[in-house]
Amino acid sequence: MDLEIPTGRTTVILGPSGAGKSVMLKLMIGLLKPEAGEIWFGGTRIDGLPERHLGDIRRRTGFLFQQGALFDSMTVLDNVSFPLQEHTDLDTAARRSRVQETLQLLGVAELMDRLPSELSGGQRKRIALARAVVLRPECMLYDEPTTGLDPIRSDVVAKLIQMLRRELHPTSVVVTHDIPLAFKVADQMVLLRHGRIYMDGPPEAFSSSKDPIIRSFLDGYATEEDLEPTDTEAAA
Ligand SMILES: Nc1ncnc2c1ncn2[C@@H]1O[C@H](COP(=O)(O)OP(=O)(O)OP(=O)(O)O)[C@@H](O)[C@H]1O
Ligand SMILES: [Mg+2]
Repeated sequence: MDLEIPTGRTTVILGPSGAGKSVMLKLMIGLLKPEAGEIWFGGTRIDGLPERHLGDIRRRTGFLFQQGALFDSMTVLDNVSFPLQEHTDLDTAARRSRVQETLQLLGVAELMDRLPSELSGGQRKRIALARAVVLRPECMLYDEPTTGLDPIRSDVVAKLIQMLRRELHPTSVVVTHDIPLAFKVADQMVLLRHGRIYMDGPPEAFSSSKDPIIRSFLDGYATEEDLEPTDTEAAA
C-alpha cells in the first residue's frame, strides 16, 4: 500500500476485522517493524530506526489503543500523568495541574482520584483519551475509539475528537468500524481490504459510491464472498 496522511487533517481508516488497521497504526510510530517498504514521519524515514531514536516521534504522537490500556493499579491522576513523567521535566505540582486541565477539557475532572476499575466504559475511554493528549501531541492515532460504547457515548467521543481537533489541530488517524463516527470526523477516508487500499478519497466519494464492496461495508450487509467459509472454517 501507498498512503499519505495529510498534516493537520483527519484521515479515517475503514476495513473489515483482520484487514491490518491496528498493525498499520503501530507501523506508523515504530511499535512494529515492516518486513518491507518505507515509513516516513514528516521528513524522517523511521522503519529502520533503532528504538532509542523513536522517543521523539512517540512524544509527538498520542495513541488511543484499541483496548484502552490504562494501568489498573494506578489512579486516574497517575495514569494521565504518566507520559508527563516519562517525557517532561515538570515537577509534581505542574504535572498535577496539567492533568487537571486535560481532564477538564474532557469533562472528567471529578474522576481524578478513582481507579480504572471504578470507571464505566465511557469514562475509561475519556481517561485514555486524556492520557493520549496530555503532552499536546501534533499527531493523534485513534484505534476504535467508540467500540463498546452506546450510540450516545459514541457521539460524545466523536464530539471530543472534533473538539481536540479545534483546540490542538493534530494530524489525526482514526481507525473505526463506526460509520456514523467516520462521516462525522473524516477529511479523507481509506478502505483497507486484505492488507491493501481498496479505495481512498473524500467522504463524499464514499457516500456516493456505487461499488458493491463499498456499499456493503457502509450499509452493513454481507456480500456473497463474506458468506463463504473462511480458510480455517473450511479446514475444520
Ligand atoms: N504482532 C503481530 N505479528 C504477527 N501478526 C500479527 C500481529 N498483529 C496482528 N497480526 C495479524 O495481522 C492481521 C491484521 O491484524 P490487525 O490487528 O491489524 O487487524 P485489524 O484490521 O485491526 O482488525 P480489527 O478490526 O479486528 O481490530 C491479522 O491477521 C492479525 O492476526
Ligand atoms: Mg484492530
